Amino acid sequence: MSPTDAALDRSNHTLKALIAHAQAYGFIYPSSEIYDGLQSIYDYGPYGIALKRNLQDFWWKSMTQLHQNIVGIDAAIMMHPTTWKASGHIDGFTDPMVDNKDSQKRYRVDLLIEEHAAQLVAQGKPAEAQDLIEEMEHCLQAGNLTGLDKLLQHFAIACPLSKTNHWTPVRQFNLMFSTQVGAQNDATTLYLRPETAQGIFVNFLNVQKTARMKIPFGIAQIGKAFRNEIVARQFTFRMREFEQMEMQFFIQPDTEAKWFNYWQENRKAWYSSLGINEEKLNLHPHKQLAHYATAAVDIEYAFPFGFKEVEGIHSRTDFDLKSHEQYAKKKLQYFDPDLKKHYTPYVIETSVGLDRLVLMLLSNGFVQTEHPTDGQRTYLKLPAPLAPIKAAIFPLVKKDGLAERALALFDTLKYDFPLIYEEAQSIGKRYTRQDLIGTPYCITVDYQTLEDETVTIRERDAMAQHRIHMAEVASHLEVTTSIKSLLARL
Ligand code: GAP
Repeated sequence: MSPTDAALDRSNHTLKALIAHAQAYGFIYPSSEIYDGLQSIYDYGPYGIALKRNLQDFWWKSMTQLHQNIVGIDAAIMMHPTTWKASGHIDGFTDPMVDNKDSQKRYRVDLLIEEHAAQLVAQGKPAEAQDLIEEMEHCLQAGNLTGLDKLLQHFAIACPLSKTNHWTPVRQFNLMFSTQVGAQNDATTLYLRPETAQGIFVNFLNVQKTARMKIPFGIAQIGKAFRNEIVARQFTFRMREFEQMEMQFFIQPDTEAKWFNYWQENRKAWYSSLGINEEKLNLHPHKQLAHYATAAVDIEYAFPFGFKEVEGIHSRTDFDLKSHEQYAKKKLQYFDPDLKKHYTPYVIETSVGLDRLVLMLLSNGFVQTEHPTDGQRTYLKLPAPLAPIKAAIFPLVKKDGLAERALALFDTLKYDFPLIYEEAQSIGKRYTRQDLIGTPYCITVDYQTLEDETVTIRERDAMAQHRIHMAEVASHLEVTTSIKSLLARL
């Protein structure tokens, strides 16, 4: 096996183990699994949804609670169809696709080419890889599909399945899902939103006026988005139904460089507050820009399958507001009381995929180690404030009043913290079960508790144990597991 194949094999192995873990321990299931699932669509299990909601809560509070000038909305998934004409999605939200005539499989051309370039680098041909990527970017920017055809042929890029390069001509493919609304003979075609941002743009004046916002100000939103992704791979990285957390920050024209930098720094700090090491993050400035952007940078995380985008920060100018003004024939301008004039604000957008963040945290926290005495140990090293369950409460044994004491402790804490109470099997097995779902603390009521009201508290990562008084458990959990403790790091 070549070093490249070995590296690929290792990363596939880690991804496979992670997917199996996420499914076996109640984080993520294939959607409608009893019918063999649906490609690129997933359901969240009890621990997955808890992790996702905690992340959502942290993002929402870090935007709206820590910034006086950012407020939230929740717009509908279905919007007036002209929205998507104005936003450019009907004409421009396409990916270049190609079909392999032998395997009948369809691919996104840019991904095929990027993969080939990665192989060239691994074969010690970085200059060739760079030429290929530069040529591809040139063709994508110019909308030159014939140029992409030629690149596939020139570099003999083959289908991973059939291993041939018998390709159809490259074609553009729109990624929006459409649906019919109304009686059949009088139906209107609507689209499921491919980004949440447009719900913010069309509500710009509603929010500015009703919440009495002054520029600069932001509008945040969390919600579902839908894209008919053709390449279904890498688990929840690329889904057809997913959730975005977006914030549009409305600013004076000519201040976009300052705010673009501000939001890059702000978002970088957010990732480090989650304990993501700097070397696992990469800022990737875009050369090929979306139709609405004049500058864009991706925040990438080192997934088992390489550095990939989790968040995009875009300088969107006044493109969207101006375009909606034109299509809706309504003014979407702001009167600046300081400058004493009307203008169309510019926008800096931060846009992160919630499902990708969940996958990032699972990848980052999935630890499989050899323990000196216990053999292989697997645990999920999730940041405690995001962990689905904050603590598990155990009686050492069920008898001698220990179960009652443990249940009483559970009852006093349950209003503030998501907990698990367990009394079955050995303490070791109970610890293992909590490690697998990332519970940061296990609290055991034992015989000493009956004497001095102390309990043991066992910490997930170091497996260290110490005793604390029962009356201190709540404050210990509050300090270490609340979203507030994460917000305080920002
Ligand atoms: N409003 C700008 C926008 O939608 P984007 O770069 O297309 O920009 C933003 O998407 C984020 O949404 C991405 O960084 C990613 O985290 C997430 N995202 C996009 N497509 C996705 C998909 N098919 N599955 C999961 N997440 C996706």
